[in-house]
Amino acid sequence: MQLTVIGSGYVGTTIAACFAAFGHEVTAIDIDEEIVEAINNGQAPISEPGLEDLLETHVGNRLEATTSYDAVPESDVTFLAIGTPSNDDGSIDLGALGAAAEATGAALADKDERHLVVIKSTVTPPSITDVLEPAIREGADNNDAIEVGMNPEFLREGSAVADFQNPDKLVVGTNSEWASQRLHDVFEPVLETETPVVDTDPQTASMIKYANNAFLASKISLVNDLGNICKEFGLDAYEVMDAIGLDNRISEQFLRSGVGWGGSCFPKDVNAIIAAAREEAYDPAVLKAAVEINDRQPERMLELLESHVDLEDARIAVLGLAFKPRTDDIRNSRAIPMIERLKERGTEIVAYDPVAIEPMQERFPNIEYASSAADALAGADGTVIVTGWDEFATLDEELDAMATPVVVDGRRIVDPRPRITYEGLTW
Ligand code: UGA
Repeated sequence: MQLTVIGSGYVGTTIAACFAAFGHEVTAIDIDEEIVEAINNGQAPISEPGLEDLLETHVGNRLEATTSYDAVPESDVTFLAIGTPSNDDGSIDLGALGAAAEATGAALADKDERHLVVIKSTVTPPSITDVLEPAIREGADNNDAIEVGMNPEFLREGSAVADFQNPDKLVVGTNSEWASQRLHDVFEPVLETETPVVDTDPQTASMIKYANNAFLASKISLVNDLGNICKEFGLDAYEVMDAIGLDNRISEQFLRSGVGWGGSCFPKDVNAIIAAAREEAYDPAVLKAAVEINDRQPERMLELLESHVDLEDARIAVLGLAFKPRTDDIRNSRAIPMIERLKERGTEIVAYDPVAIEPMQERFPNIEYASSAADALAGADGTVIVTGWDEFATLDEELDAMATPVVVDGRRIVDPRPRITYEGLTW
């Protein structure tokens, strides 16, 4: 099939490359000339295992990038994969996506055959009917050959290509048999692996995406809430969670308690669905609590640290800046509130991450950054472990080099040992 993918960010680039690998002819469209040039040179604009290999194989062959919408009417299906950042009140900003939707409509104004426009971006159910569909239709001068669908994406950063190619489920949100069949055709290689398909309408498809992320984020917050109680009782939350994970209804995944969830999706999506619910005059109590518990975890780490060290007078090593290991993404990383709160206390901060120092330097230019965990720890009065990088598990003599060896671990990555004062956040 001929596909156009509007937006070459995290999701857009991954799906464009994977669609080409499925055997489709793909045009990736982005307004940013540098991104377009990078893709056409076979370079991934984001770092993701396997992505660059796919680009190298398919660019110039079945995949090309451009800033022009000319390929849209020639294609069979257009995917909109434009970011939906948060407004101050937590609701999603549909500005860029709305503009792309209108431009897509305009490109299709004179097309006679039916054309399917699929929203890949995470958007709330009302925004499909109230904002995006009208924007496409207005752009297209009400060309009724256009159909709008929704196909939410469940890939994770760090395993985007593998997640896209082997999903747990495929959610196909359309308003007609024809549109549904088109999307089935696009995903034929995935369907051959007997991936479950949920065929539904576009709004339900978009709610499935929010429910999925809200459930996972709330699961972690519940585990953190229970974990905090375990800590108060002097118990190990991991022993408790390992046991409850044996109940198939709970499952063993996403039971790691600690400093909480970050990244570009969970915080944005949970806040967006809360804001969208409030628009309907519904107050989602559990989701609000999930956010509150998540906001609380960095402070709890500092309270544990404070029980051993006077933070006003201390030099503290913050180990791990990325929102999770194996990425340099710091968006909504728990390291951000951690550094902010240490700064408020007047603490001297030295931060380290194997790959995420540069983006954090833009956010906090005035704190010290070390080039290794060993350098960060040398002479420090304590450390907080914020990201579960494997290399922190092998720290040993480096911990002894602290002036006062106090470790507060937010990811259960450092093994407690004699000679150091060790506090697990929930164990
Ligand atoms: C998440 C979802 O897992 C994907 O399914 C979804 O497609 C994506 O959001 C999105 O909406 O685009 P991602 O943000 O890449 O993916 O990260 P996760 O691996 O899910 O981790 C999210 C956060 O939860 C991280 O900060 C991680 O440290 C934390 N986490 C995860 C825990 O604290 N405990 C756990 O047990 C698991």
